[in-house]
Amino acid sequence: MTTHADRVAYLHEAGFNTFLLRSEDVYIDLLTDSGTNAMSDRQWAGMMMGDEAYAGSRNFYALEEAVRTYYGFPELIPTHQGRGAENILSKILIKPGDHVPGNMYFTTTRAHQELAGATFHDVIIDDAHDPASNHPFKGDVDLAKFEALVREVGADRVPYITVSATVNLAGGQPISLANLRAVAEYSRAHGIKVILDATRAVENAWFIQQREPGMAGVTVAEILKQLCALADGATMSGKKDSLVNIGGWLGLRDPRLAEKARGLVVLYEGLHTYGGLAGRDMEAMAIGIGESVQEDYIRSRIGQVHYLGQKLIDAGVPVVRPLGGHAVFLDAAAILDHLPREEFPAQALAAALYLESGVRSMERGAVSAGRDPETGENRYPALELVRLTIPRRVYTQAHMDVVAESVIEVVEQRAGVRGLRFTYEPELLRFFQARFEET
Ligand code: F0G
Repeated sequence: MTTHADRVAYLHEAGFNTFLLRSEDVYIDLLTDSGTNAMSDRQWAGMMMGDEAYAGSRNFYALEEAVRTYYGFPELIPTHQGRGAENILSKILIKPGDHVPGNMYFTTTRAHQELAGATFHDVIIDDAHDPASNHPFKGDVDLAKFEALVREVGADRVPYITVSATVNLAGGQPISLANLRAVAEYSRAHGIKVILDATRAVENAWFIQQREPGMAGVTVAEILKQLCALADGATMSGKKDSLVNIGGWLGLRDPRLAEKARGLVVLYEGLHTYGGLAGRDMEAMAIGIGESVQEDYIRSRIGQVHYLGQKLIDAGVPVVRPLGGHAVFLDAAAILDHLPREEFPAQALAAALYLESGVRSMERGAVSAGRDPETGENRYPALELVRLTIPRRVYTQAHMDVVAESVIEVVEQRAGVRGLRFTYEPELLRFFQARFEET
């Protein structure tokens, strides 16, 4: 725990950017659910069974088996984390001048697509941009937007569509099986590949079980398989669903494409049977995959997120509705409606929350969205959010109570929260290292 005076000093040192705080100065850390999970006794036992051979580690084959069993992709290329897989996939599929649609963007995914020479197009349904819409599948692709893009640029300039399940920046919102099926049918007819961002697909599968007609009696494991069956490949950050601290993979069906990917993984990550991971990390991820689809686990995981969200809703705090899978997203534009978008209300709200109680959250708004690569102008996405992201198997309901009380306190004091302006703005993925001062 820290005092208010400590936190004033730490926040100024960090340039009002929660990414630049030291972890030891944070009381409850809701920056991300990425790599912050607590591993189980079984996973730790697996860590002791690392086969650290350079080539052909036993743990690689355990991971390959787990991915085939639970995700159904026959070809597995391990990577150090999700963005390693995104880099390789973007390089093997994109030619300069191509166009890649997706159901909203994710920061690293879009950055790799743009670095490979593609233009990204958001084809998510309009409801996703409205924090108050209660649509049960706000992650769905708007097929009309997707088709309009393909007609405009030509199917041969669209190598693939990225479909995220769930959609992080929309608030952890799921896509429906029916929608993905329709996307896959249309894509197949036009020679466009479907690439699933499977980072939180287990959480997505749980929402399908809860909300999609006819799916109530189907297990989360089975739904996960059905989701993946509709995709030609998947990029995965094991640091989320798979309950590990590091690890990811690229899963593919086409062996020729997998050969190309293996050629690149050796350059960027490591040999194709370790991809930047220690053997023990692959073992922990293989075990985590099996644990992640257990019904009791996934119910309690999302139940905890919803416990926090419901407390905030009951107190009248504007949050993204319906509540998502990995986080509660505060509607910063609504809470700090005295600040113009140019003064980054979400960045300011995250800073104010840290100051209040030492709870660390993350800006997901205009700072994260960056600048348009062509015009150089700031991008102002419809959503200006602060993410309270819940690590898996780490915190108790009592911690959630503290978080709720702190947020409610900040909302009551909101008139005193000032806007921010850049004192340092990095060119790429600026939100990680940017610094600010109060306006
Ligand atoms: N895709 C999604 C939907 C993600 O949320 C992330 C990471 C990645 C890909 C990249 O994976 O971090 O293993 O390289 N999201 C983290 C977050 C950073 O905090 O939401 P990675």
